[in-house]
Amino acid sequence: MKIAIIGGGPAGLYASILLAKQKPKAEITVYERNRADDTFGFGVVFSDATLDNFEKYDPQSYRRITQEFAYWDDIAVHFRGTVHRVGGNGFCGCSRRNLLLILQERARELGVNLRFETEIDDESRLNDADLVILADGINSRFRERYIDHFEPEVDIRSNYFAWMGSSRPLDAFTFIFQETEWGPFIAHAYQYEAGRSTWIFETDPETFENAGLKGLNERQSADRMAEIFGWFLGGHQLLTNRSMWRNFPMIRSKRWVKNNMVLLGDAKATAHFSIGSGTKLAMEDAIALAEAMERAPTIAAALQLYEQGRREEVEKTQHAADVSLVWFEHVDRFWDFDPVQFAFGVMTRSKAITYDNLKLRAPDFVAEVDKAFAKQVRAKGFEIDVARPLAPMFQPMRLREMQIANRAVVSPMCMYSAKEGVPTDFHLVHYGSRAIGGAGLIFTEMTCVGRDARITPGCAGLWNDEQEATWKRIVDFVHANSAAKFALQLGHAGRKGATKLMWDGMDRPLEEGGWDVISASPIPYFPDSQVPREMDRAAMDQVRAAFVAATERGERCGFDMLELHCAHGYLLASFISPLTNKRSDQYGGSLTNRLRFPLEVFEATRAAWPKHKPMSVRISATDWAEGGITGDDAVLVARAFAEAGVDLVDVSTGQTVRDGQPVYGRMFQTPFSDQVRNEARVATMCVGNITTSDQVNTILAAGRADLVALGRPHLVDSAFTLKAAAWYGAEGVFCPPQYLPGKEQIFRNSVRDRQDLEELKIKAKPKTRAELKGEATKPLAAE
Ligand SMILES: Cc1cc2nc3c(=O)[nH]c(=O)nc-3n(C[C@H](O)[C@H](O)[C@H](O)COP(=O)(O)OP(=O)(O)OC[C@H]3O[C@@H](n4cnc5c(N)ncnc54)[C@H](O)[C@@H]3O)c2cc1C
Ligand SMILES: Cc1cc2nc3c(=O)[nH]c(=O)nc-3n(C[C@H](O)[C@H](O)[C@H](O)COP(=O)(O)O)c2cc1C
Repeated sequence: MKIAIIGGGPAGLYASILLAKQKPKAEITVYERNRADDTFGFGVVFSDATLDNFEKYDPQSYRRITQEFAYWDDIAVHFRGTVHRVGGNGFCGCSRRNLLLILQERARELGVNLRFETEIDDESRLNDADLVILADGINSRFRERYIDHFEPEVDIRSNYFAWMGSSRPLDAFTFIFQETEWGPFIAHAYQYEAGRSTWIFETDPETFENAGLKGLNERQSADRMAEIFGWFLGGHQLLTNRSMWRNFPMIRSKRWVKNNMVLLGDAKATAHFSIGSGTKLAMEDAIALAEAMERAPTIAAALQLYEQGRREEVEKTQHAADVSLVWFEHVDRFWDFDPVQFAFGVMTRSKAITYDNLKLRAPDFVAEVDKAFAKQVRAKGFEIDVARPLAPMFQPMRLREMQIANRAVVSPMCMYSAKEGVPTDFHLVHYGSRAIGGAGLIFTEMTCVGRDARITPGCAGLWNDEQEATWKRIVDFVHANSAAKFALQLGHAGRKGATKLMWDGMDRPLEEGGWDVISASPIPYFPDSQVPREMDRAAMDQVRAAFVAATERGERCGFDMLELHCAHGYLLASFISPLTNKRSDQYGGSLTNRLRFPLEVFEATRAAWPKHKPMSVRISATDWAEGGITGDDAVLVARAFAEAGVDLVDVSTGQTVRDGQPVYGRMFQTPFSDQVRNEARVATMCVGNITTSDQVNTILAAGRADLVALGRPHLVDSAFTLKAAAWYGAEGVFCPPQYLPGKEQIFRNSVRDRQDLEELKIKAKPKTRAELKGEATKPLAAE
């Protein structure tokens, strides 16, 4: 078998090693355009988990690589004169040059033919090869040549970065966030061998321009960085080696295989340097390819197996890298944060590390985070313990005169169980039990402002006396038997009205018994849905009056808070999104025009709602669809409502059009809450696939939302908050006297369960290489 590999970087060389071991008779050639020792870049970084993988697949190269390594356990965050260190991270650094020399040596030993200074510009030269591995790096010529087949998507990010080196020793993976007269600069730095560290500098385009970096050569820009970070470099030089400032290209390819050619490493996909995974991904690609070659009967089958098996892992890493790079691109959002909260945000930015996880590894750090959070709450006038604070989830909050005992919220959820809009006993039990379960705030389902405003025949309403009396009974029960505050969500279905109950076909039109539907524009939801009537001014007046009447009824019921539903493609949302609003009058076109009617309804309801009670608005912060609302628009929408007097923006997403493409995942909508909160400077509630109290605390402590709503988790666990309170020892959580023995038991058991689990986790955690070498806290001396 003949194998040709284009590119002698980590992907190409490691693939040659693994394939040579597996197929000793194969003729394997690596073509590399550079000289053998002509490599650029400084250090590369691997996690302990990646090294375990290397050990398994080629112990010989693993041993040589790890002899040269620098190990560290801590991440250090420098910000506004403070430094916060968090241990237990288990990373290793090594020089890229040494890594490549070791891989070259190992490949030679295994009989691989290494052809340096050989540039391949036409793969037809390799026609006699059975397998051609395209490991030609980020600017892959062959990926571009077959662009129509591989369909790469190249997203050039806005921030500028440059790789440099230094002799400054470091004992931690170090992030430095530096204020300058031009704007913020960030250094990502780590040691990779004695007396050598990698320094990646990053900044936004405006700061790059202001600092005059555009016109400087490599040496001059290194000098500029040395001036900025001189206080930390302490006289150590910054070294350059092709250290040009660039923009990071996030690359994803739709296909990785063409006939007998396969893309490997950076050529197929990249991951942002802030999670240090470029070289790791490249070498793990080689492992995946070698495994597929071992298992599949033919080369064609192996290449398919490689792509199928590897894609999910690569996409997961890329997603984590994306979330991380977006955090760094928007670092100015957090610039005025308390430094410890800022450091917590750095640590938890890509979701892998959480509040509970950090509490286990760095209890003092988390205690400081809790204190900073509690201080902010105390500054708002709450008499709370700052010396021994509760976890953020159990800190109170005030909106106007409404006080909420904790930050957990039952999200609005339609029960589709009302009769002609009148809630039933089901609703009494449903809301009653969730209120008793301890959440600080519970929302009603979308409660419709008129018979024709309903989504389905089972939707609850508030347009007549019978409904008002029934809701009042539920509100009274909640107030009499719990500490929860109760918010009424008012809405109008718009074009999604006259549809079936959720369990009969979500959003599908009713076959009989429907009613006329209205919307901003006459566009049906499904092609076979009813075509809505475009609202004229008279219809707007009627709808506004219906919202006001329902608001007045809501006040008579005794609700504590009011939410206007402007999300999920319902009537008011249909005005906001350009995908559903095609009007040419003053209610269509610009965002200002599209917001005109929803704001008018907000202002009318605000005027009808008592001044001392808060109001929120639920928005879809993105339509997840081309040409629709984006996070940037959501900031403008939130600002407009905030100027009109909204107290909280409830940040949801999507459900505007049926072909939206949401990117689901844990806490997937939280980045939008983060953006709205920290750019529009308005209180937010986030929601969406948040399932644990650990996630709730992570979000709150990082300042990504002020309240956290959970929908589906509350459907199956009405006592979610009470259980979390037991876990975090928040004794003050409300529990009705009837249930006190249960509360006492769970609080008692939780202390033990928590200790057992933590001990188990500590025991089960393998020692990091830094711990094993006893180098966890010692800086490596320069030679
Ligand atoms: C300037 C620079 C500095 C970097 N520094 C670091 C760092 O310090 N730490 C870190 O973790 N990561 C660093 N990276 C990123 C990291 O190197 C990559 O993620 C990783 O090397 C990917 O491995 P690869 O084998 O896929 O690609 P590469 O390492 O880019 O290797 C591709 C190889 O293919 C060769 N090649 C390309 N086209 C041809 C052709 N037509 N014919 C023959 N040969 C060809 C190139 O010369 C190159 O050696 C750096 C990247 C660059 C560009
Ligand atoms: C059964 C069900 C009904 C829902 N009804 C509403 C509703 O009436 N109003 C609303 O704004 N959101 C509604 N939602 C959306 C939820 O409030 C929440 O945003 C969504 O379920 C995501 O949160 P989760 O992952 O915690 O469930 C509903 C969700 C579910 C599962």
